[in-house]
Amino acid sequence: MEPTPFYVAGRQDVSDEVVDIRHPFDGAAVGRTSYATPDQVERAVAAASSVAAEAAALPAAARAAALDHVSRTLAERADEVARLITAENGKPLKWARAEAARAVSTFRWAAEEARRFSGELQRLDTDPAAAGRMAVVRRFPRGPVLGISPFNFPLNLVAHKVAPALAVGAPIVVKPAPATPLSALLLGSILAETDLPPGMFSVLPVPNDRAAALVADPRLPVVSFTGSGPVGFGIREAVPHKHVTLELGGNAAALLCSDWSALEDLDWAAQRIATFSNYQAGQSCIAVQRVYVHEWLEDAFLPRLIAAVEGLKTGDPADEGVDVGPLISEDAARRVESWVDEAVASGATIAVGGRREGATYPPTVLTGVPAGAKVLAEEVFGPVLVVERVTDDAAGFAAINDSAFGLQAGVFTRNLQTAFTAHRTLQVGGVIIGDVPSYRADQMPYGGVKGSGVGREGLRSAMDDYTEPRVMVLTGLDL
Ligand code: SIN
Repeated sequence: MEPTPFYVAGRQDVSDEVVDIRHPFDGAAVGRTSYATPDQVERAVAAASSVAAEAAALPAAARAAALDHVSRTLAERADEVARLITAENGKPLKWARAEAARAVSTFRWAAEEARRFSGELQRLDTDPAAAGRMAVVRRFPRGPVLGISPFNFPLNLVAHKVAPALAVGAPIVVKPAPATPLSALLLGSILAETDLPPGMFSVLPVPNDRAAALVADPRLPVVSFTGSGPVGFGIREAVPHKHVTLELGGNAAALLCSDWSALEDLDWAAQRIATFSNYQAGQSCIAVQRVYVHEWLEDAFLPRLIAAVEGLKTGDPADEGVDVGPLISEDAARRVESWVDEAVASGATIAVGGRREGATYPPTVLTGVPAGAKVLAEEVFGPVLVVERVTDDAAGFAAINDSAFGLQAGVFTRNLQTAFTAHRTLQVGGVIIGDVPSYRADQMPYGGVKGSGVGREGLRSAMDDYTEPRVMVLTGLDL
């Protein structure tokens, strides 16, 4: 198998350091690539730096045309793209298809935002001393971006780095996750078909232990990182003078409020929570990990939840009917297993699940988990759900906030006031009313507070993040 080339300043390249990419489900080789050498990395960064001024001056039409091309091509090749995502990441085909469709819309939104990104006018003659003055406030790229992306959405989380950078005219160097570089390389091949100037993008497979030099390089003043908290906060500490955006993990919670008591409501919540604590084997930062339910609703809710979890089909992610595939590696599944074992040893009960097979861990529901257990307090990133009782809505909000993280929360209510109270009270980046926390539309601001990160993704938010405002004051106008 020939190694899939990577992209240095928009051009294909390979190195002698070849790596096999293996299917998480059965370890079969699904592709190869090679690691970029220090010299190739240097060429990519030097090109990004030298094209930055030209890129910032590219007409909106040119940026939008490139983004539209990527969106259209991903749509045309959606089936191939989804199969590649499943092969390298192990997520079931239906979730890979959903990811491919999202990447189509991420690039489409970026093209639309690129056309709209105009800045604003501000009157300054509100003060008599400033008569005849007007400010034009436009945003300009801070400079080339380093995008570091994770394995759990190997295409769409790369898209969330690349699309806003191209939309504002900022060159980008992408370092995909070592386990899942193939989707990013496919994206690179589509970008290479556009008329973007050379240097505008590079996709460099680099092992994590060699990423520090890229992070430290002063020619990449913006770092957009998605991944684990320790690595993310380590980056911020290493380069405090850079503009660093961190999209980190969470232990997302859902609350069933007191008004969510009709049996069909409980059925719906059980179905949604079962699905979204286990989609992608729980490897999403907003997968449901904690559920808080009123004590008087628990007897009706828990059997429904268990039935819904038992209804999920685990197996080969390439099979159309499979809901839950493997984790990214056997090591990851062993870690989840050890966290569940630890909770059980300290008094938790397994209501369903709990037996690992290779890299696959079955959908698992735990009750009676003591405070402080890792499955409750840390990010499981696996198909494990903890159910807890609360006495009222306020106690539910407090329980959600009793976390080192704050990414998104789901609040099952139809009460408008409860929704507004949740929005005001919950220390998270997003509150989803009437559904699980695991909802993300790619255009909406997305990110967290506390240990969940700094800054927001979502096209317009990331475009603001990659740019800074510059004011031009016009004087002597007859307004
Ligand atoms: C994440 O897991 O970080 C992103 C979730 C999503 O994009 O849906």
